[in-house]
Amino acid sequence: MKFNQNFNLNDLANRLSISSKFNSHSLAEELSWVGNYCVASKSECLEYISEFLKLIDNPRIQREKEENFDAWNKGWGENLSIIEEKGFSDETVRPRYLKEHKFLRFEKDIIVSPNSMLEYQLFNIVRKLIFNEFLYPYDEIHELGCGSGSNLWTFANLFPDKILTGYDWAKPAVQIANKMGLYLNRKIVGKELNFFEPLTNLDFSNSSAVVTVHALEQIGKSHKNLLNAIMKGKPSIVVHYEPIMENYDENNCFDLLAIKYSKKRNYLEGYLKALIDAESNGLLKILHSKRPEIGGVWHESSLIVWKPI
Ligand SMILES: C[S@@+](CC[C@H](N)C(=O)[O-])C[C@H]1O[C@@H](n2cnc3c(N)ncnc32)[C@H](O)[C@@H]1O
Repeated sequence: MKFNQNFNLNDLANRLSISSKFNSHSLAEELSWVGNYCVASKSECLEYISEFLKLIDNPRIQREKEENFDAWNKGWGENLSIIEEKGFSDETVRPRYLKEHKFLRFEKDIIVSPNSMLEYQLFNIVRKLIFNEFLYPYDEIHELGCGSGSNLWTFANLFPDKILTGYDWAKPAVQIANKMGLYLNRKIVGKELNFFEPLTNLDFSNSSAVVTVHALEQIGKSHKNLLNAIMKGKPSIVVHYEPIMENYDENNCFDLLAIKYSKKRNYLEGYLKALIDAESNGLLKILHSKRPEIGGVWHESSLIVWKPI
């Protein structure tokens, strides 16, 4: 049989360096639906590399700030329309850029699966492990860059009593968060916020977590403003699941491609160093920093958890 390997919940938790065995029965079942995979053969690797090089050369992956703003408004507008038509579900909040693909980055290698939605399904499990491990103790969760509401939806399902706030510069994203609050009759609200502007409205309670998932990714080297605002807002904990350029290994061909792709897209750069510098200046404490080597298709996220001092 070609697809002869299984994902394992303990292995995923180990990759994230988390202890959580939370709800392991239902998560293990969810993981079993994801199905099997195999490591890509030489010809499949070459196919992946060719596709990636073409993508890196495609001028459409480079966007100016204005174009980026318009693109996110359009993308989340599509999710908003689907939600208005069909209500909230894992499928209606799925960001439409998480598309079908047969390849996924895994363990610094490329794997192939007959499940073309592997990236989204595996990510759903990974984020549940992360959220449960780090967010459980806090009354409020503030997600910066909440997009289609897919993480807010996951928080709402995992934590029935928490107050949720989603922030984004795109109006449809804010509308989705507000609609979710009405739909579930819960304290879930959306707020407009632009990471590039002076952030005066970030003020967190003494039992609050700030979360970002694939959101700081968008701001390249311009993270000083946002980092200062988060530190000043004094949340209890900050959890990032973001692509960290510094964690790639230039001597690995797949990582080198991810670096080239990330630079072309102006993805997050220098953020881990900024956190380490802030830690050595006594401003924060990094509690957790790990590249789990779990997907996506073209690049991958690292888990960083810290708290302001
Ligand atoms: C890749 S999406 C991730 C969305 C969501 N966190 C998720 O995991 O599905 C990036 C998000 O960051 C938001 N974003 C990008 N630049 C921003 C900025 N300057 N200020 C606020 N939000 C921004 C986009 O609108 C989008 O919602």
